[in-house]
Amino acid sequence: MLQHLSDGKFHSGSEIGRLFSVSRTAVWKALGKLEEFGVAVESHKGKGYRILGGLDLLDRSAILSSLSADVKARIAEFLVFPAVDSTNKLLMDSMARQGEYHLVTTEMQTAGRGRRGKVWVSPFAKNVYLSIGFELHGGPEALSGLSLVAGISVVRALGALGVEGAQLKWPNDIWVDGRKLAGILVELQGEATTSWQVVVGVGLNVKMSERDGEGIDQPWVALDELASLRRSDIVASMVESLVSIIEQFKRFGFSAFREEWERHDLICGNDVQVNEGEISGRAIGVDAVGALKIDTSSGCVVVNAGEVSVRPNVS
Ligand code: BTN
Repeated sequence: MLQHLSDGKFHSGSEIGRLFSVSRTAVWKALGKLEEFGVAVESHKGKGYRILGGLDLLDRSAILSSLSADVKARIAEFLVFPAVDSTNKLLMDSMARQGEYHLVTTEMQTAGRGRRGKVWVSPFAKNVYLSIGFELHGGPEALSGLSLVAGISVVRALGALGVEGAQLKWPNDIWVDGRKLAGILVELQGEATTSWQVVVGVGLNVKMSERDGEGIDQPWVALDELASLRRSDIVASMVESLVSIIEQFKRFGFSAFREEWERHDLICGNDVQVNEGEISGRAIGVDAVGALKIDTSSGCVVVNAGEVSVRPNVS
């Protein structure tokens, strides 16, 4: 029914009922349930029902058909849900998997996870929520710089869609014009010395309204301010870029990406604070493993993890 109404036009209750072999009352009840997903269905006597503005739903076959043969061949599983609690959680809960890459995307998340225990706002059919699960071999060093590389993959995916100017805020936020466009959450399970089960989750704002984003505690931007793109095309570009970049990362590590990171580094040259003032100084780029270098009053300090705030332009 959602698919049918996604065109934003009026459809009568009897037309929808006929299509799905249900009564008009059943149609009315089912459409009422959409409110639970935050989808407002307008009903008009004599005209029927419509979703104002329509919906840009995910199209699994369109996504798969725009992937390159090499990337497609590496995908063991590609799941598209109407709703899940969290695409990262879903992959983390089913780690013993066969095959190279496992992908999950969804129209909405009921418990989207952000970094540092925050909630990731995940309204229905508005944004992109995508997780990829895979295995990395090696000890802790095999993970060095992975989250930065994931950020680069989003910048590349946007570039391939004609969206230039995205910048990376260490370790892996994607910002445009001083506002956050996308975030990445890397989660791990592993044998610490031999191999890691990795889940990289990307959340990217596409059509999020001011109202949807009311609870977000930092400046944010949605992609529709910059370009008009279908969510399926965005997902396809992100899958293509994630799989290709992880393949490169497995072979060459972070050093192969350091220059590219520096080209998009948002905070280099800015005065920054890490973990609310624990360390403060001037950001001077990243080292060979992706750690943040900060020039402080007591010399150069290297930071492996933390929350960075930048003054005075970006917070
Ligand atoms: C951040 O706080 O910046 C990271 C946000 C990561 C959100 C994505 S949405 C898809 C995946 N599933 C989740 O629950 N979180 C990540």
